[in-house]
Amino acid sequence: MNTVSKQIRDSFTITLALACLTALAITATAATSPALTPASLTCQGLVNPQGLDAAQPELNWISISADPAVRGQVQAAYQILVADSEAALGQNVGNLWDSGKVMSDQSAHVAYAGKPLLSHQACHWKVRVWNRNGVESAWSQPGFWTMGFVTPDKWQLNWIGGAGRTGLLRKEFTVKQTLKRAWVYTSALGFYELRLNGSKVGSDRIAPGWTDYFRRVQYRCFDVTDQVKRGANVMGVEIAPGWFAGKIGSHGPSKYGKTPAFAAELFLEFTDGTTQIVKSDRAWKTSEGPLTASDMQDGDQYDARLEKTGWDLPGYDDSSWMAAEVLQGENRNLVAQQDQPIGVVREMKAVKVTEPTPGVHVYDLGQNITGVARIAMQGAKGTKITLRFAERLNADGTLDFTSLRAAKATDTYILSGNGVETFQPKFTFHGFRWISIQGLEKAPALSEVSGIVICSQVPEIGFLETSDAALNHLLSNIKWTAHNAFMSVPLDSPQRSERQGWTGDANVMAATATWLFDMDRFYTKWEGDVLGAQAYNKGESDGLMPTVAPRWAESGGGKGGGWGDVGVNLPYVLWQRYGNTEIIRTSYVGMQKWLAYLERHSKNHIIPASSRISTAGDWEDVNDETPKDLVATFYCALDVSQVAEMAAAIGKDADAAAYRKRFQEVRAAIIKEYVAPDGTVAKGSQTAQVFALHLGLYPDGMREKVLGKLLENIKAHKDHLTTGYLGTQWLLQVLAENGHADVAYKILLQKTQPSWLFMASMGQTSLWEGWTSLKPDGTFGSKRTSLGHSALGSCGDWMFQSIGGLVPDPMSPGFKHFIIRPIPGGALTNAEMKYQSPQGQITSHWTLKDGQFNLEVEVPVNATATIVLPTADTASSTESGRPVAVSPGVVAAGTTQGSASYNVGSGRYSFAVTLEP
Ligand code: BGC
Repeated sequence: MNTVSKQIRDSFTITLALACLTALAITATAATSPALTPASLTCQGLVNPQGLDAAQPELNWISISADPAVRGQVQAAYQILVADSEAALGQNVGNLWDSGKVMSDQSAHVAYAGKPLLSHQACHWKVRVWNRNGVESAWSQPGFWTMGFVTPDKWQLNWIGGAGRTGLLRKEFTVKQTLKRAWVYTSALGFYELRLNGSKVGSDRIAPGWTDYFRRVQYRCFDVTDQVKRGANVMGVEIAPGWFAGKIGSHGPSKYGKTPAFAAELFLEFTDGTTQIVKSDRAWKTSEGPLTASDMQDGDQYDARLEKTGWDLPGYDDSSWMAAEVLQGENRNLVAQQDQPIGVVREMKAVKVTEPTPGVHVYDLGQNITGVARIAMQGAKGTKITLRFAERLNADGTLDFTSLRAAKATDTYILSGNGVETFQPKFTFHGFRWISIQGLEKAPALSEVSGIVICSQVPEIGFLETSDAALNHLLSNIKWTAHNAFMSVPLDSPQRSERQGWTGDANVMAATATWLFDMDRFYTKWEGDVLGAQAYNKGESDGLMPTVAPRWAESGGGKGGGWGDVGVNLPYVLWQRYGNTEIIRTSYVGMQKWLAYLERHSKNHIIPASSRISTAGDWEDVNDETPKDLVATFYCALDVSQVAEMAAAIGKDADAAAYRKRFQEVRAAIIKEYVAPDGTVAKGSQTAQVFALHLGLYPDGMREKVLGKLLENIKAHKDHLTTGYLGTQWLLQVLAENGHADVAYKILLQKTQPSWLFMASMGQTSLWEGWTSLKPDGTFGSKRTSLGHSALGSCGDWMFQSIGGLVPDPMSPGFKHFIIRPIPGGALTNAEMKYQSPQGQITSHWTLKDGQFNLEVEVPVNATATIVLPTADTASSTESGRPVAVSPGVVAAGTTQGSASYNVGSGRYSFAVTLEP
């Protein structure tokens, strides 16, 4: 119980009813409130999603005010209508669900509670809200969703394949009636690209996303009404091995199966009420295509001479093609894809070209990305072009492949000789900044070479910029490296022969990622992969959480100590940041089993280093080791305390009490085993001290001693960190919370190795796997290291909370109530933060000049905030030019040493404070 906000609560004795009180106080300040407009409708966290399989999809919106500056605006009530047609909804008839007027300020995660939804059903919905004066809004713009297969077990789907690991499949069909609606369900074991009458269906890339195909395979649904025509039509699909049959980690290919397969079902609904279904079946024809080989790690090999012009259009002569093979005995568990699909996120034009070796042209994108190259070129038929990729250049300007390990990361293209040809591989991805092109006589112009960024399309929701260019560079590196790793699964890294969902890496980065991107759907899907992998562990191992997820054939087992613990720590983050309680419910049994597993493997509550829970330790620490038994036991304490909170949040009070009790027992055991009377924890590593301070794992009254040992260690390292993946997550936070923000800033702004800004000062555009991945001379510090590894970016969480100043309130998940408390430090003179919370946009912008601290804040409608100003001198503080004490809608909430707090409702505020010299 020692996050910043909990401390703030304690110090000002703010009660749990704070949010309500604030709202009441604000109510008194303004007689009327402008009308609200509900907007930004999403269903299951997605905009107008197709083909859902959740029985009660969750609906979300935010309320926008006609005048956002007016203070204390709340949604007092809402009404939702869901109809099975646009026409019914247009007449305000909720023939599937009319919620009636619900007196509630809830606007996120409202579960559909109407008639049971049927497979393929179209659901059109809208919402209206009332403000606190009872003024009703207009109805929102309509949103919609469609249902997929509500009873997937009744879905008979044929999986069809070609002869090999790549190939084409096609099927011609005739439409005789007038079409009303057409939609297609698609899935693949491997990757696919579906085309309908010559154009691509949807914009997904390397689809479907990665799951443990033994347990579940994701399907997607696309509305193709505009692509189907009367008369002859053709569906064509290209398939490739993908995660299903391609290489995984350093373990070789075919971990789920040997050859890819495809499945589809096209539904045609005609105006006369009749229907037609076109399925994947034996009537499809198959042939080899221009893609001669494909692997995510090794690249795509494409021979344009083998292109079959017109194959995806009606009328193509496929008489020489073979009948597709229908896979026998396939009975896959098909589930609707829950998260945003992988797709093109942006294009990066090449910024520089060199020719370090005759005939090999090296293009610099200026940024380490995940994706593929796109290149336009011209040449004689049969010319072979080879593209290679790297994160670093050798001193002579050639590509350095060290960080790729065994990944070949090589795409080849054989020219057809037909004019300008564009190559953009479809079924592979690389992690790279530099591209080398070999085989062309003349180097393509810069404008003809791009990096196409391909990742899961999680929406960007956070922005932070400071007055320090080096910190902004770090923020950019954190954001790029995090996003580069989101590939349906949070990968450790995107470039080498690894690229797996390492649970520890995702665990430490999750809190930071939630500031930058809307991670709710992505992590919800991946938590399913984690729990799915856990479910394989039976008998004595029952409950053991995995080290990597999704599981693949031989990746059994698991580990704790920060890795498997993600199964608990991730739902906690999603609940806290997005107000998602559904994830608690769906993960609850798995979390309980994990806690039981930990208990079975503990001796007197300590997890011995030899046990199977034991861990990679504080991975990548800098010669400052933390015993693995302490690491595993600390995480057990963390997990138990988080499950206690989550149990209470879903009404399981008895469980909550039992886990709270167990936390105290584990805490007592840790104190007994590791905390010395002088405050040294275990061997006194920075991480061990941070662990103890983070969870209060020391005898009452000993905080200063434990803190003192951390400060001593940092001093001995001349203000450098030594923490690995685990300790880094909380190092700055623990220092700042305990009155040493100055030390946190010294570490953050440290320019010599090991530090974040050392990486930035080396011109790096991403974060490294370890603090010493590169040496000061720019050469590799270790041969096994990557230059695009997100885990060390976990300081982003503290940067948003302390530099941006937005601190979540753990008692009010989903930013219903939050704290604004910037902590200026270093030589920073300003910082601006914007965050799209579930309630709407929160902004905080502070400047510091000549002892004058100004803070502009925007609190969205339907939320409340506590503003903490860095002075106890309330008399000289102003808000919008008035003494803060008389400012309307600003309610004093107490002072403490060096700070004063105020409760506010929604609206815009402008505080000015003169700091004590
Ligand atoms: C991965 C790490 C991972 C670690 C665990 C490495 O190979 O790249 O990020 O967490 O192994 O042992």
